[in-house]
Amino acid sequence: MIDRKRLRETNAARDALAEALGCERAEVDDALREGGLTLADAARLSEQVLGTFALPLSVVALTLDGRERLVPMCTEEPSVVAAAQHGAKALGEVRSEVHGGHLMTAQVHVRTGASGGALDEPALLALADAAVPRLVERGGGARDLRMRTLDEALCVVELDVDCGEAMGANLVDTVAEAIAPEVARQLSGEVVMAILTNLCARRRVRVQARVPVQESERATLERIALASHVAQLDVGRAVTQDKGVLNGVVAVAAATGNDTRAVAAGAHGWAGRGEGYAPLSHWTIEGDALVGTLELPLALGAVGGAGRVHRVAELLLRGRSAVSLEAEAAAIGLACNYSALRALVTEGIQRGHMQLHDK
Ligand code: MEV
Repeated sequence: MIDRKRLRETNAARDALAEALGCERAEVDDALREGGLTLADAARLSEQVLGTFALPLSVVALTLDGRERLVPMCTEEPSVVAAAQHGAKALGEVRSEVHGGHLMTAQVHVRTGASGGALDEPALLALADAAVPRLVERGGGARDLRMRTLDEALCVVELDVDCGEAMGANLVDTVAEAIAPEVARQLSGEVVMAILTNLCARRRVRVQARVPVQESERATLERIALASHVAQLDVGRAVTQDKGVLNGVVAVAAATGNDTRAVAAGAHGWAGRGEGYAPLSHWTIEGDALVGTLELPLALGAVGGAGRVHRVAELLLRGRSAVSLEAEAAAIGLACNYSALRALVTEGIQRGHMQLHDK
């Protein structure tokens, strides 16, 4: 059992992380030196490099699917980590479900010819697998294919790829480009472009938590449900509420060297998939509990990406699968969301959140 209060002290937090990862404390200290990225490695990650840019790295203890986890967060915003830890305590156990596992989708947009044509699905799936042989060896590869008409002259062919433990952007871009000429040939058309979609709607995570309603807390918890209802009705509020969710999700993605822009783009795309923009999370009173649910598409890699070069990301990804990382990130998002709503419907965000930070 992690002593959550001790996490407020850097030395104790480092000890707790070493214990959670099953490594020596010296290894944690070593990875954290220079923020995990030497100048030489920074120059391998990007171009025209001046130096590196440091941000606070924290850990939050959270109970997810019956197990206590120490989840890393990297964020510059005061009070977000305190809100996540406070929310994690209030939520008790968070339960997660991951749909679609590791599926990412390649898109080939085609200007269709007058003569048209039909797709040869087995041939295209085989072509896709041939483009990523090492992924296929590891058990991943092409899974499914479909076509949608966009207008009278344009269509999109979508091919799902099981990316295993990777986020999958490079793999899926490779697949998209490999199949594009053949897709166009089969449709007697012309390729407009070929790339993954960041709306990874087939790779979704759903987390849920139940906060028991104590009589003394009933009014506050009912107001949290009311605030959630407001976000369903007002897009201005929905976007701000989602920003609070992403405070948590993106901080976990950043700490593990994942692509934070892909996470945000996918989340907002999912929120906007219906008639209008709908919030990613919702809270309702169900019997004697306030039930909070968050669902979003989320593609976080446990291998590849910056984790190949960044020593902190490499350390934090040890022993984590892509699916468990996605569930942890979503659970932290729900915890941040709960704390923000609670502060908003009680003493207000300035007092409520800053008080958490000061503590
Ligand atoms: C601030 O970073 C996030 C909040 O605005 C989220 C919300 O309003 O729900 C507090």
